[in-house]
Amino acid sequence: MNAEAGNDALDNLLTEERTFPPPPELVAQANVTEDTYAQAAADDEAFWAEQAKRLSWAKEPTEVVDWSNAPFAKWYADGELNAAYNCVDRHVEAGNGDRVAFHFEGEPGDQRDITYAQLKDEVSQAANALIELGVQAGDRVAIYLPMIPEAVVAMLACARIGAPHTVVFGGFSADALAARINDCGCEVVITADGGYRRGKPAALKPAVDKALESTPGVRSVIVIRRTGEETPMTEGRDVWWDDIVGRQSTEHTPQAFPAEHPLYVMYTSGSTGKPKGILHTTGGYLVGTAYTHWATFDLKPESDVFWTAADIGWVTGHSYLVYGPLANGATSVMYEGTPDTPHQGRWWEIIDKYGVTILYCAPTAIRTFMKWGHEIPEKYDLSSLRVLGSVGEPINPEAYVWYRHYIGGDRTPVADTWWQTETGMHMISPMPGVADGKPGAAMRAVPGISVEVVNDEGQPVGNGKGGYLVVTKPWPAMLRTLWNEDERYVETYWSRFPGMYFAGDGAKRDDDGDIWLLGRVDDVMNVSGHRMSTTEIESALVSHPKVAEAAVVGATDETTGQAIVAFVILRGEAGDGGPEIVQELRNHVAQEIGAIAKPRSIMVVAELPKTRSGKIMRRLLRDVAENREMGDVTTLQDSSVMDQIKGGMSASS
Ligand code: WTA
Repeated sequence: MNAEAGNDALDNLLTEERTFPPPPELVAQANVTEDTYAQAAADDEAFWAEQAKRLSWAKEPTEVVDWSNAPFAKWYADGELNAAYNCVDRHVEAGNGDRVAFHFEGEPGDQRDITYAQLKDEVSQAANALIELGVQAGDRVAIYLPMIPEAVVAMLACARIGAPHTVVFGGFSADALAARINDCGCEVVITADGGYRRGKPAALKPAVDKALESTPGVRSVIVIRRTGEETPMTEGRDVWWDDIVGRQSTEHTPQAFPAEHPLYVMYTSGSTGKPKGILHTTGGYLVGTAYTHWATFDLKPESDVFWTAADIGWVTGHSYLVYGPLANGATSVMYEGTPDTPHQGRWWEIIDKYGVTILYCAPTAIRTFMKWGHEIPEKYDLSSLRVLGSVGEPINPEAYVWYRHYIGGDRTPVADTWWQTETGMHMISPMPGVADGKPGAAMRAVPGISVEVVNDEGQPVGNGKGGYLVVTKPWPAMLRTLWNEDERYVETYWSRFPGMYFAGDGAKRDDDGDIWLLGRVDDVMNVSGHRMSTTEIESALVSHPKVAEAAVVGATDETTGQAIVAFVILRGEAGDGGPEIVQELRNHVAQEIGAIAKPRSIMVVAELPKTRSGKIMRRLLRDVAENREMGDVTTLQDSSVMDQIKGGMSASS
C-alpha cells in the first residue's frame, strides 16, 4: 500500500466533519429508503430477483446467481433477452415513443433531439447494415467515435444482433486502437471522419487507416460523416454510414439472447503493460446499471433530464449514458465537446437550456471549474438541478462543497459514486434521499452489494481504520472474465484475498462505519479520472530507441488528481537529453498510447532507485515528484542515487 499518500489523504479527511442532510421534498418521494437497505440485506438474492423485473425478458429467468464455479459468475442464466429491445423498443411499445432519449448538443452549436421512436428506427437500420456486412451474433465490432448520437446507435445496433462491441476512446492513438482490435478479434470498425474538439474539427479516420495496417482481421469500416472534411476511403473496405445505413429498412425484429451472452468488452489499464479486456454480459449488466441509475440518482424518468458528462469511450459512458438511462426510458443530454468551447460557461448554458435535473461528472472537471471561478456558473439558471453525482476519483471535500454550493445551490445531494470498469455499476454511493452527505465520503454499499475494508490478512478493519477495499459477494454487473485471459482474471482480482474481489483501492471506515476512498494501492494512476498504468507508459517510453530504462509515477496534481511524471535513463549514444529529447519522448508516448498518456514532466536521470532485488522504488520517485521529504532509503541498492536525482531535479527546475 502506498502508505505516505494514504496517510496524507487520511489526515485531510479526518478533519472533515460537515454533513448535509437531504432536502425533505426529496426524502418524501425518494426511490430508495432505509427500508430498501434492510430488505436487500435480509435476502440479497431475492432483492436482485426483484430488480430483474425492471427488464423485459423474452424468457423470464428462474435463477438469480450461480456462483458454483467461482469466481466465474452467472446471473439470471436461464433468462433470455435483447439489450437493445430493452433500451429502445419497449419504451416505444409502452407509448413513450415521443419521449426524447437524447438532447444532443454538438460542440459547434448544432443540436438534435432524438426520440425513442427515432432511436428505434436508427438502431434497426444500423443493425440491418451490420447484417448486410455479414456480422453475426458473437462477432466483435470496434467502435471509435466522437461523442455523437451515432455512437449510441452503433452500440445498440451491435447489442441488438448479439455482436459484442468494443468502444475505443477517440483520444487513443492508432497503435492503441490496433492493439485493442487485434486482442478482441474485431472484424468491423465503426468510425467517423472526425469530431469537433476545442472549436476545430479533429480527424479520426487517419488513425483508423494507420491502425488497420496491422489488423489483418478487419474486413469492413463504416464511416460516419460528422465534420465533412476530406477523408480518404479504401475501396472495397470502407463504406459511408449514410450509404449503407441510410438505405436499410427501419424494421428489424430483435432476437433474444441468453442472459450471459457477451454484451461488450472494454479495455482498461491494469498494473501490467497490457490493457485488460473487461467482459460484460447482457442480463446482469442491464439489471445492475438500470437499478443503480434509478436508485443512485433518484431518477424519475418522466420528468428528469439526466446528464452524464463523460465520454462514451469509458465505462461511465457505457453504463450511465447508454445502457442504464436507456433501460430506464430516461431523457439524457449528450454533449460532444470540451467545457470551455466556445466559452467557459458552456456546461452551465447547456443545463440552463435543457433544464437538466441531474448532473454526473468527474471531480477533475469540478476542480477546473473552481479554478475558472464561480462567477461563470452564477450567470446561468441552474435551479433545475436536484441531484449531483461524482465519479472516477476521490472527490476532495473542497470540491464537493463547491459543487454542492455553486452548482447545486445548496439544495442538491451529491452522490459520490465509487465503482470501476470491472464492477460495471455503482457499488458504493450515498443514496440521495437517505444519507446525510459527508463531503469526500462514498458512504456505504449500494443496496444488494456487499463490500468490506480489510487488512493484509483479509480481516475487516472495523470502524476508524483504513485498509483494502474488497467486494465480498458477486453482483449482477460484475465483469465475467478478462477477454481470453481467464487466468489473469482470477490472478488479478480473486487471489489477493481468496473468495473476495480485490478492487485495487485503499479505503477507510470512519467512526460511523461510512466508507472513504483513498486512491489506488497498485501501480495504476488516476489522471483526470482516467486510469493509466505506470507500466504501460514505461513500456511506451522504453520502446523509444533512445531510452534505456524508464520509471513512471503518479504525482499529486491540484487539477487532474494525479499527473504522470516520468524518469528516464537514456542510452549511451543519446547524450544527456535536453529539452528536445523530452518533447520527443512526450510525443512518442502520445503516439504509442494517446495524448492523454503524455507525461506532465520527464526527467532524464543517470540511475533509478532500485531495491537489492532490482525493483524500482516508485515511492521514492513520488516523493521527488511531489517535492516531499524523502521516505526510507535504506532498502536501496545504492542510496546515493536519490541524492543525484534530487540534485538533477533542482538543477532542471
Ligand atoms: C477510482 C470509473 C474514489 C478508483 C467508473 C477505481 C474512485 C477506479 C471513485 C476505476 C470514487 C472511481 N472515489 N475513487 N467515487 N470512482 N474511482 O475503471 O481508483 O475508469 O478503482 O471506472 O477509479 O476507474 P474506471
